[in-house]
Amino acid sequence: MKSWNKSSWRNFEIKQQPNYPDVNELKRVEEEISKFPPLVFAGEVRKLKYELAKVAEGKAFLLQGGDCAESFAEFNADNIRDMFKVMMQMAVVLTFAGGCPVIKVGRLAGQFAKPRSSDFEEKDGKKLPSYRGDIVNGNEFSEEARIPDPNRMIKAYNQSSATMNLLRAFARGGLADLHKVNKWNLSFVKENALGEKYQELANKITETLAFMEACGITSQNTPMINETVLYTSHEALLLNNEEAMTREDSLSGNMVDCSAHMLWIGDRTRGVDEAHVEFLRGVINPIGIKAGPSMTESDLLSLIDKLNPDNEAGKINIIVRMGADKIEKEFPKLLRAVKNAGKKVIWSIDPMHGNTIKASNNYKTRVFDEVLREVKGFFKVHEQEGTFPGGVHLEMTGQDVTECVGGSSEVTEENLSSRYNTHCDPRLNASQALELAFLIAQSLKDAKDRMKNS
Ligand code: PEP
Ligand code: CO
Repeated sequence: MKSWNKSSWRNFEIKQQPNYPDVNELKRVEEEISKFPPLVFAGEVRKLKYELAKVAEGKAFLLQGGDCAESFAEFNADNIRDMFKVMMQMAVVLTFAGGCPVIKVGRLAGQFAKPRSSDFEEKDGKKLPSYRGDIVNGNEFSEEARIPDPNRMIKAYNQSSATMNLLRAFARGGLADLHKVNKWNLSFVKENALGEKYQELANKITETLAFMEACGITSQNTPMINETVLYTSHEALLLNNEEAMTREDSLSGNMVDCSAHMLWIGDRTRGVDEAHVEFLRGVINPIGIKAGPSMTESDLLSLIDKLNPDNEAGKINIIVRMGADKIEKEFPKLLRAVKNAGKKVIWSIDPMHGNTIKASNNYKTRVFDEVLREVKGFFKVHEQEGTFPGGVHLEMTGQDVTECVGGSSEVTEENLSSRYNTHCDPRLNASQALELAFLIAQSLKDAKDRMKNS
């Protein structure tokens, strides 16, 4: 294979990139960012890969979730805290009810750049370049806002760095303490039946902790009880930024994209001879590959070979996103091809991107039951094939938004407009996300037991 360096992607065809009007300013920003401290450390990236290898073996589950697109406008401590809390709640449900260790990876602290189905957006007869995420241009529908500005990369870096700082503080500083499992329930979740169900589980955990403490297992001698790790991830779409954040690890000489622990390639930019794959083949980070209905067996195998030539476990996470109607038809052939080729991969399910619809009032939405149906279809295929459903990949928030319809929170098409805050795709609100965790816990437990006995 041809030699790689962090700029070699520039010699390849590339999709979904902004046209920066001032290339000198772009270059200046890239140079500035390349001197910024890394957001993650190589040792953490290796640790995540080690944990993901356990997912590949059927011994742990991957929970990956967060905003479709982070935004400058929604950046504040409460939003970060509430996202952290809901991830912790879901992880506890899946660990306790699903009987499986959970690796938590946020779509956050860098999830800014968005691929778009069209380069232009038209409204009331006016045509403007599409919004490509706050790291590129502004969401506002005006000529000026839509001009790509490289300085937004610096703002995104600063926001990611502050987000990361708070997440690390929450993870290590007491909020993740299992003794506080009661306090993760968000106020608007508390009141409904789901809140009560969670409370019951929290009480059981509290009882168990008291029992363990009586046996001498305390947070003093077992730090896992009061600390956690929340890894970060985003789509490696804006390669100027990814290149500028890539560093050589002084201990190993490995190249690491230090903008996040895990990166993924979107369904629109996964061409095996294109720039995104070229860039990602050279860094040691775990890599997600989105696989929609157009993915063929041979495309997928070539991608895996190129991105993971040594067949290292924990490196490749195939994120299936077929849609509820297609999952049982399109997914088994990919699964079989990878299995027969002996590739060590994690399979996870993104039940969001294949289930986006337009409501009658024109809001982009997703139906909770369809999201659930795709997850169930994914578990069913694994059961039939004797493989392990390794994880879920969700667009969700800790806020009480009205973006996806259904679930016990009873968001309807009519009330979508009341708290529709997303900058891109509709997210599950905290109740819907927690409900989904409860609904898949039993299937996870069954799958885990099946792997143990196989
Ligand atoms: C996303 O995850 O936000 C996304 C755009 O996904 P996909 O590439 O699968 O469409
Ligand atoms: Co999305």
